[in-house]
Amino acid sequence: MRMRTSSTRRVFLQATALAGGALPFMGCAHAARQGGASARVSGSFALDANRVRFFSPAIRKPLNVMVIADTHLFMDDARGEPFKTYSGRMAKGYNKTRHFKTGAPTNPQESFEKTLGLAKESRVDLLALAGDIVSFPSQAGIEWAHARLKACGVPFLYVAGNHDWHYEGMAGSEMALRAEWTEKRLRPLYQGSHPLMSVSEINGVRFVAIDDSTYEILPEQLAFFRDQVASGLPLMLLMHIPLYAPGRDVGFGCGHPDWGAKSDKNWQIERRPKWPAEGHSATTLAFRREVFAAPNLLGVFAGHTHQQSLDCVDGVPQFVTEANAAGGYLSAEFHPCRL
Ligand SMILES: [Fe+2]
Repeated sequence: MRMRTSSTRRVFLQATALAGGALPFMGCAHAARQGGASARVSGSFALDANRVRFFSPAIRKPLNVMVIADTHLFMDDARGEPFKTYSGRMAKGYNKTRHFKTGAPTNPQESFEKTLGLAKESRVDLLALAGDIVSFPSQAGIEWAHARLKACGVPFLYVAGNHDWHYEGMAGSEMALRAEWTEKRLRPLYQGSHPLMSVSEINGVRFVAIDDSTYEILPEQLAFFRDQVASGLPLMLLMHIPLYAPGRDVGFGCGHPDWGAKSDKNWQIERRPKWPAEGHSATTLAFRREVFAAPNLLGVFAGHTHQQSLDCVDGVPQFVTEANAAGGYLSAEFHPCRL
């Protein structure tokens, strides 16, 4: 693995066509040597519609990953009756959608099944589930998704989104509600891993899942991420809410300088506590800084905005995937290469 210091990081970006998100994009986080010391994994990536390919000498064996976020399953049954006052609004959202490529009518359930079918057929090595798979912590919805995932047979790594654990209007802090409904409902999706931070290593690439579904990062998550960086292995970060990138609004709300009470437009609609007046914690801001300075990070996968996007911050590409409620997914390939 060739590396270089982050202070000397030079990023060469070559846009082959930039008009429209669906056109091809080639990027290169190029290693520059300085005094024998090196810090940044060298390599490049290419984006064509919803297919991204990474190339790096740090990748030892090829592997394929499918990224899914924002399916927003809304199914429920009699067990959800006592919670209707908390689930009603989201249960009506995204019931009918239009396919992200064809425009044909579809829905979250059909989209999820078709995407898993595609993952199985194309024999991907990992399904990376980047949150908001359900619109509220419905037992019926979580059981259904879990059964489909098991039947599909592809290993999966799940991290929560802001809706997976949220019953709107229920009393309690976001942290407390997340802990409660993770334990009571979402637990099977974690397959024994820590819900707030976990890692899956495949063919020498580490997929690091960090739960930022409250928009904030906890000190133990920052420490966990630092340990992963210290491993020196190539990393991909999986989170629900994208990290702040210049030019983006608070949808890219993890580490956003404007995130806080003043920019919180949805707290009444979502019936949750308003974001704090003082903005992010120092830990969240440090986490964002360290992610984009991590020398062995190949990139970030996220969801939340429901719109595919790419931002390259200090040579680290962050990909947001289109909502799976509309059939969206990101197909990611990792290829060894000599540069
Ligand atoms: Fe979300």
